[in-house]
Amino acid sequence: MADAVYPVPADWAENALITAPVYEERYRMSIEQPDAFWREEAARIDWIRPFTRVSEASFHEADFGIKWFADGTLNLAANCLDRHLEERGDQVAILWEADSPDAASRAITYGELHEMVCRFANLLKAQGVRKGERVTLYLPMVPEAAVAMLACARIGAIHSVVFAGFSPEALAGRIQDCDSRIVVTADEGLRGGKKVPLKANVDAALGHNCEAVDTVIVLKHTGADVPMTQGRDIDWAMGVAAQSADCPAEEMGAEDPLFILYTSGSTGKPKGVLHTTGGYAVWAAMTFQYVFDYRPGQIYWCAADVGWVTGHSYVVYAPLMTGATTVMFEGVPTWPDASRFWQIVDKFGVEIFYGAPTALRALMREGDEWVTRTSRKSLRLLGSVGEPINPEAWEWYHRVVGEGRCPIVDTWWQTETGACMMTPLPGAHALKPGSAAKPMFGVRPLLLDNEGQVIEGAGEGCLVIDRSWPGQMRTVWGDHERFFQTYFTTFKGLYFTGDGCKRDEDGYYWITGRIDDVINVSGHRMGTAEVESALVAHPKVAEAAVVGMPHAVKGQGIYAFVTTNVEVEPDEQLRRDLVQWVRREIGPIATPDIIQFTPALPKTRSGKIMRRILRKIGENDLSNLGDISTLADPQVVEHLVAGRPQLA
Ligand code: PRX
Repeated sequence: MADAVYPVPADWAENALITAPVYEERYRMSIEQPDAFWREEAARIDWIRPFTRVSEASFHEADFGIKWFADGTLNLAANCLDRHLEERGDQVAILWEADSPDAASRAITYGELHEMVCRFANLLKAQGVRKGERVTLYLPMVPEAAVAMLACARIGAIHSVVFAGFSPEALAGRIQDCDSRIVVTADEGLRGGKKVPLKANVDAALGHNCEAVDTVIVLKHTGADVPMTQGRDIDWAMGVAAQSADCPAEEMGAEDPLFILYTSGSTGKPKGVLHTTGGYAVWAAMTFQYVFDYRPGQIYWCAADVGWVTGHSYVVYAPLMTGATTVMFEGVPTWPDASRFWQIVDKFGVEIFYGAPTALRALMREGDEWVTRTSRKSLRLLGSVGEPINPEAWEWYHRVVGEGRCPIVDTWWQTETGACMMTPLPGAHALKPGSAAKPMFGVRPLLLDNEGQVIEGAGEGCLVIDRSWPGQMRTVWGDHERFFQTYFTTFKGLYFTGDGCKRDEDGYYWITGRIDDVINVSGHRMGTAEVESALVAHPKVAEAAVVGMPHAVKGQGIYAFVTTNVEVEPDEQLRRDLVQWVRREIGPIATPDIIQFTPALPKTRSGKIMRRILRKIGENDLSNLGDISTLADPQVVEHLVAGRPQLA
C-alpha cells in the first residue's frame, strides 16, 4: 500500500454536500434506521403512487428474495425527462462529441430529448413492443443510444444493451437468451477513425438461430449504404417521422424490470443481470449526487460506453434524473492524439470527469505534454472506475490531469450492484491512492477468511456485503436459481462479490482484484471460461485454459494455454489464427495476449486442471508455484515454465 494521504481540501471540507461529520451521521442512520434513511432518500424520485414498504430482502435460502419500495409506482423516463421540462426544458441534457474532432458536436436540450424519446417510444409501440418485452440495443456512443434506452423505460419494455464491440456470435447469444424479437442498431459506428460494421454484425447475428427477430430498427449514423431487409428493417429517421411526439409514460411497479445487462462470471455463459426500476433509480441518483457532489448546471462527463453498467447508471440514468448536463463521447482517448480527452474537457468546460484506469495508463505512457498543453481549468473533481487503479496512475491523474487541485473518487462497484458501493466522498474522506476508502450509505462490507470467519479490524479477505441495498440486481434473467447459487451460497446469507479486499488501520478498503475466474481486461470484465470455450470451439484445439496476467496498460492481459489435437503441429500461423478466432467469437476485447502451446495441461490425478499453477505462470511468478506433488504428471509444469513466451 502506498503511504501517501491527501487531506480533504478546505473548500470541499466546508462546502461539499457530504462533509466528514455528515458522512458519519448519515452512514450511521443508513445502517441503524434504514427505513427512515431510505424514505428520505427516495424522496428524490417522483413516485406516481408512493410506496409504503421500504425493503423486504433476505439472502437466506428459506425466504430468499429482494424487493425495495415494492408497492410504489413510477416511470424512470419521466423522472429523467418530464419532470425537468418546466424548469430546465431549454438546458442541455446531452452534449455529444463525435469520434473525429472535425465532425460537428451536438447539444440536445431536455425538451428536445423528451420529444426524441416520445417519438421513438411510439415507434416501438407501433412495432408491437409491449410492457415487459425485451428490446436489444446494439448502438454506438450516440445520443440515440440514450434515446432508445429511455424510450424502453417510458413504455415499460426491458432493454438489453449489447456493447457495440461484441461479435455477431456474442450478440446472437444475448438476443436468444432474453428472447428478444427486436434489435435497434446503426449502420456503422466509429471509433478512433475506424468503422465498426454494426448493421452487418446484426445481419450476421440473425443468421445464428435468431429466427424470432422480426424487426430491426437502423439508425443512419455514418450514412454507409447498408442492405435493408424488406419487411424486417426500418429506418430510424423515417420511422420516427411518422410518430406523434406525445407518448404517455407507463406506470411501472418499483419491482418491474428496467434492464438486462449481460456480464461475465467464473463459469458458463454470460449472465443476464436484471435490474428493476424503483430501487435502481433511488440508488443511482443518490450515489451520483453524493459521489460527484453534483450541483445543478455543472457539466459532467463519464467516459464509459453505454454498453457497460457505468454507461447505464452514470452516463444516462443518474445524470438525467438529477437534471445534469451529461457528455457523451463516441471516440477513444488516443485518437487523433493523446490530447483528445482534455481537449473535450476544455471545449465543453467539463467540471467532473469520470474515467477508467486503463485509459489513464495508456495516456500516461504518451507523456505529460499531451495533457499540459490543454487548460483543464474547468475541472474540479475526477473519478476512477472499473478496475483497481495503481498508485502510479492515481498520482499521475491527480498531479498532471487535476493539477493537484481535484479530489479523485475511486469508486468500487459492479454490474450486479447497480451503482457505486465504496468510494471516498470528496468532501468527507482524505484520499489514499489506490483505495476505494469507505462504504456508501446503506452498504455493510465484511471481509471473510477462507473459513468464512469475519475478519475484524485491519486485514485481508473475501469481500462480501451483509445486507441488501436498493440498486442490487434482482435475478439472473431466466435463471433465478443461478442467481442464488452464484452470489449467496459461497458464504451463506451474504452477497459474495468475487473480489478480494484489504482493510487498513483507518478502516479504508483496498480492492485487490478478483479472486474467482473472472479477469479484468482494460476495465472490461471477462470470464476465463468464455475465452476457453471460444478456443476449444476451434477444430484444431483439444483443450485450453485461460488465466489473467499483469499488463502495464490493460491492467490484466489474457494468457491462454492451448493443447492442440494430436495430429496438429502448432505453429505461428495457428497462433495467429486462434487470436483471430477468439476475436471473431467474442470480440476484440477478448484478444489473447499470449498463447502458449503445450502438449498437456497440469492436472490432478482426478483430471482437474490446476489453475493455481497456471495463474502463477501467467503472473511470471515461477519461483513460487506451490505444492505440485498432487499432479498426475509433475513434468508438465517444467515444460510449461520452460516454454513461457514473453509478451512482445
Ligand atoms: O473486480 C472489481 C472491478 O470490476 C469488477 C466489476 O466489473 P463490472 O461488473 O464490469 O463493473 C465495472 C464498473 C463498475 C469488480 O468486481 N472494479 C470495479 N471498480 C473497481 C474495481 N476494482 C478496484 N477498484 C475499483 N474502483
